[in-house]
Amino acid sequence: MEQNPNWWKQAVIYQIYPRSFQDSNADGYGDIPGIISRLDYLKTLGIDAIWLSPVCRSPQYDNGYDVSDYQDIDPMFGTLEDMDRLISEAKKRDIRIILDLVLNHTSHEHPWFLEAKKSRDNPYHDFYIWRDAEPGERTDGSIADFGDGSWQWVPEVEQFYYYQFSVWQPDLNWSNPKVRQALYDMINWWSDRGVGGFRLDVVDHLGKEPFQHIKVDGPKLHDYIKEMSAAAFRRPGLVTVGEAWSSNPTSAKLYSNPDGSELSMVFQFEHILLDKQPGGDKWDLAALPLRKFKDVMCRWQQSLHGCGWNSLFYENHDLPRIVSRWGDEGKYRVESAKMLAILLFGMEGTPYIYQGQELGMTNIHLGLEEYNDIETRNMIAARRAAGYSDESILRSAYGRSRDNARTPMQWSDAPNAGFTEGTPWLKVNENYPEINAEKQVDQPGSVFECYRELIRLRREYPVITGGSFDLLLEEDEDIFAYTRTDGAHKLLVICNFRDREIENPLKEQLRNMTCLISNYDMPSDTLRPYEAMMYYQ
Ligand code: GLC
Repeated sequence: MEQNPNWWKQAVIYQIYPRSFQDSNADGYGDIPGIISRLDYLKTLGIDAIWLSPVCRSPQYDNGYDVSDYQDIDPMFGTLEDMDRLISEAKKRDIRIILDLVLNHTSHEHPWFLEAKKSRDNPYHDFYIWRDAEPGERTDGSIADFGDGSWQWVPEVEQFYYYQFSVWQPDLNWSNPKVRQALYDMINWWSDRGVGGFRLDVVDHLGKEPFQHIKVDGPKLHDYIKEMSAAAFRRPGLVTVGEAWSSNPTSAKLYSNPDGSELSMVFQFEHILLDKQPGGDKWDLAALPLRKFKDVMCRWQQSLHGCGWNSLFYENHDLPRIVSRWGDEGKYRVESAKMLAILLFGMEGTPYIYQGQELGMTNIHLGLEEYNDIETRNMIAARRAAGYSDESILRSAYGRSRDNARTPMQWSDAPNAGFTEGTPWLKVNENYPEINAEKQVDQPGSVFECYRELIRLRREYPVITGGSFDLLLEEDEDIFAYTRTDGAHKLLVICNFRDREIENPLKEQLRNMTCLISNYDMPSDTLRPYEAMMYYQ
């Protein structure tokens, strides 16, 4: 792997949400020793790298996305020595560790912020973004919803500071070169410790201009990323992925320019934003418009081919479970989980699997008081105040709460799914006796074995890494089908998105091809509920 600086183009990356993965000391929270104890499971799956959601020291108002010390591990997760051991144990298994870098903001408990708010002439004051009160402006203003961005008054300095997410996450002032240098030094410190890459939290916010009401894609954004890349990302084999909700194929070509001037790739969210009511926000649910989805995926596949690089994902710690979202979490859970996997893994880009996705884990139904996530709790309060019924609020939370992805990993049918011997910080999904890793590893026909085989196929067939993409049956309302083609070979993927049997318009074409993987045992001329097939010639 070391010889190939672009190893990540053939790789599959697995995301771990540490507090929910594996607890080793019965405190109810997952931790780094717990992760180490599960590395062999990940090796069996066949992944190449682990993206770890934040493990740095944090008061955990936003589960670690509020960092109070970038160069230490939160005691909840272990120690720096545990982290070093994770890096070396993973390396022994040819697995790299990718850290989550939260560079847009710190915690309000970060020493930089504690200094910054002492006085206006403190050397750290300019590490954050401040403004004076307008004449007559109230300074006891209400606190904005998560992600809406607002200003918060600090009596010590008689100024407001800017925050994009929660009030406990003051935004760093990226126009200050000292801030940027301090962050680059920190990144290099982690690379020196053996980290193999970074995921950059809300990277499209770094160039914000709050005084001009520009939150994302600010005029200096790409200059900052280029500068950071030159200062901290030019190490052979280092992989970087930016989270960029605002990205489009044009900006993604800059972010993932093959000349290496910015990042390896970005997470784009165009497909993720399709299933909501027009004009609504993510809590206003709608069914997935399949034709739009096909169009979006096709556009991204084709636009970046040869001049950028895609990431391929459905789930992460902020999103609901895909089988509950676009598949069927009931009768066809196994079939639809595999269908969605086959669809994604035939595309060009680097696939990401979020913990439990490889088991077909589903959303959870919590009571309104049981939600833990700060964003969900803010939504509940805001919608209650606006007069929404509890029933409709619950429907939104079931469908979209970030807690859906954050319930503990389901390892076995032991108490608490084998996640902890203590009391888990968030309820375990009650379907764990049926859906768990022990029941699926080495079990032919399981969702896990399907992911394992897809990972193997990606390594074996170069057309999956490099072939060009063409959409088939564009107008079809039920089927997502495409080909990947290079000089010598062709891959054809066909997926039925419906829970009923339908005609297979491509059956003649498939006769001369070999089936690499499918989600039904016996072949058929029709497409059965959620049937998916990958063919090759
Ligand atoms: C990103 C993270 C999310 C976090 C937010 C603020 O969107 O993925 O979990 O709350 O940034 O850091």
